[in-house]
Formats: sequence, C-alpha cells, structure tokens
Amino acid sequence: DDFEGEGVWRYADALPLESGVSIREGATPLYEVPRLEDEIGVETLRIKHEGMNPTGSFKDRGMTVGVAVARELGVDRLACASTGNTSAALAAYGSRGGMETLVLLPAGKVAAGKVAQASLHGARILEVDGNFDACLDIVQELAIQGEAYLLNSLNPFRLEGQKTIGLEILEAFREDYGAVPDRIVLPVGNAGNTAALYKAFRELVQAGELEPAAVPKLTGVQAEGAAPMVEAIENGADEVRRWDDVETRATAIRIGNPVNAPKALPGIRETDGTAISVSDEEITDAQRALAGEGIGVEPASAASVAGLRKLRAEGIVGSDERVACLTTGHLLKDPDAAAAAGNDPEPVPADTDGVLERLADGNSS
Ligand code: F0G
Repeated sequence: DDFEGEGVWRYADALPLESGVSIREGATPLYEVPRLEDEIGVETLRIKHEGMNPTGSFKDRGMTVGVAVARELGVDRLACASTGNTSAALAAYGSRGGMETLVLLPAGKVAAGKVAQASLHGARILEVDGNFDACLDIVQELAIQGEAYLLNSLNPFRLEGQKTIGLEILEAFREDYGAVPDRIVLPVGNAGNTAALYKAFRELVQAGELEPAAVPKLTGVQAEGAAPMVEAIENGADEVRRWDDVETRATAIRIGNPVNAPKALPGIRETDGTAISVSDEEITDAQRALAGEGIGVEPASAASVAGLRKLRAEGIVGSDERVACLTTGHLLKDPDAAAAAGNDPEPVPADTDGVLERLADGNSS
C-alpha cells in the first residue's frame, strides 16, 4: 500500500491494520506561538494544526483506517452524517479506495469548502431538512438496515486512527521538553477525539510507557450554543442530555447529541481535565489571534484556544502549565467565516496615484 510507515501509519503497531487507504495523512505540525503564549500566560503553548492534513481536517486520520477496514470487509457503499469535514474526508478516502460514498448534511449549515470537497470527490450528497443530530439518527438506521457502512466516529476503527493525534503530541513534547504536556485542549462536537486521545493514553499507561500521574488533562471546549458536554461536566452528571436546539458560528461543532460521550466523559474526569464553553465572539477573537501568528483555522478549531484563554483568565489553568491546543480544521474550509472575521478589501482605481492616495488614507477596516 501507499505510504506504509509514514504519518498515521508510523504508529501501525497501535492500529488494527499494517497499512490503509492513504493520502499521506498525519505528521501535522506542532507550531510554536510565542505571542499567544505570552498573552495567555502559560509556560508553553503549542498548536497541533490538524488542518494540515490532506483534506484539511483530523478526519483523515480516522478515514485512512476506517475506509481500509471497510475495504477488507468488502462493503460497497460508505456513508456518514456530517457537519462537513467528515463528509469531505469520507468522499476523498472512499474515492481513493474505489468505493461509493453517501453523505447526509444539515441543509444550509455546512461551510462552503466542505461541500465543495464532498462534491468534487464524487460523494452523493443528501441535504437533510434538519440538524446534524437528525442526520446521524438517519444514517445509523441506514447502517442497521444494511444500506451502507457507517463511518461516523461511532465507528471504532476511525477512532483508532485518531489516537495518533495524541501519540504525535506526546512524542514531540518529550523530544522538545523531556516530558509530555500537562494539558491538551480540544474542540468538542461528538467527542470522538476526546475518546480517542483517552484511549491512546490508557494504552500507553498499560504498556508502561506513560506514568499514570503524567497523563495530560483532557480539556474540552464547546460553543455556548451547543454545549451539552460542558453541562454534564458542570453538573457532575453520568449522562449527557441531548440539546434539540443548537446554534453557533462554528458549524463544525453545531452538535447537540455527542455520541461518544460515554467514552469521553470518563476521559475528561479521570485525567483531571475539565470542559468549558465559549461564545462565538470569543471563538472569532481566537481565530484572529491564531491568524496573527500565521495559522489559518476554521472557527470550531479556534474554540480550543478561546477555551484555554478563558480557563487561564479564571485561574483554572496555571501559569506553569505546558499546553497543547488542537486546531481541527483549515481556514479554507469556511472562507465565509474567515472573510467576515478579517479585513475588508478596499476598492481602488487601476492607477498608481489612486492606490497611493488610498494608502495615505491609512487602513480603513
Ligand atoms: N472540529 C472540527 C473542525 C470538526 O469538524 C469536528 C467534527 C470537531 C471539531 C469535533 O470533533 O466530534 O471529535 O468532538 N466534525 C464532524 C463532521 C461532526 O461531521 O465533520 P469531535
């Protein structure tokens, strides 16, 4: 197979297969952000930018495994519900594996770049008159009825691939600082990554490669308008209450029924982590701050940094902590959100004098 031993597949020993359907996913950068680190006030802040994967999100790490398993099983149609990124990754990996793909999207609530990807990679796209959670209910029924193989994060093989985010972060911190990070902050939608990272840590502890006391604190961030996990953590509840009405500019995490909650809640609690919600304005501020360090992310991704900023301001995160923030998707996934958060283009005539005049006026945006 292609790319055996590279990226995600460097960790084949921790995965259910030796190789997968690959477009060279994983091995994403762990950026230093000195200005943001200073401003937030932690010992170390690094940004694990999953937007640098082939289709622009962490979903690729799951699909390289999940689609390979589907191929082994000999299924012919792959399906997912999606707020966008899963559909883009499924369409790309499905087409690479030579399989038919079907995606169910909440109508009008998926960012432009993601629909474009699913479309060009040849997925059949059904726009559902309902939210993501309704799409997932339907696609689960389709899978049960034998109509398709499910590749949402309920698929355990997908989460196996996503464990490698945690493995890469721990390895890089050990190399650079001689110790794993104190905390990993991540955006939460279905809580698949939270569950996957927790599983990766447990396996490392079992293998004697990580001290139980050193396990990074898993810290989840949701948007205020879609925060059922935060509610459960704050109330000390054993189960997450499904929110029927959800809304946020971070459409990737516009999710009211985090299906991996049973695996993720213990992960947050047992690592001594926490969960917090942030407003859309706080998300956009964090998106701008990351962009100011050259790192372009979509709104949901910036939630991690917005959450860290808030937790540090509240004193829940200490100034002595070494922290990794996960940014889950690329800026170009949601060009409309980026343009709305950034500077406005300024119209000028097609001559140098006109341009100089405009420049002399200063920055109007
Ligand atoms: N960030 C981005 C950019 C996402 O696309 C998602 C999930 C998440 C965070 C949440 O991750 O589910 O592991 O807690 N997107 C899914 C999709 C729902 O359909 O693309 P999680």
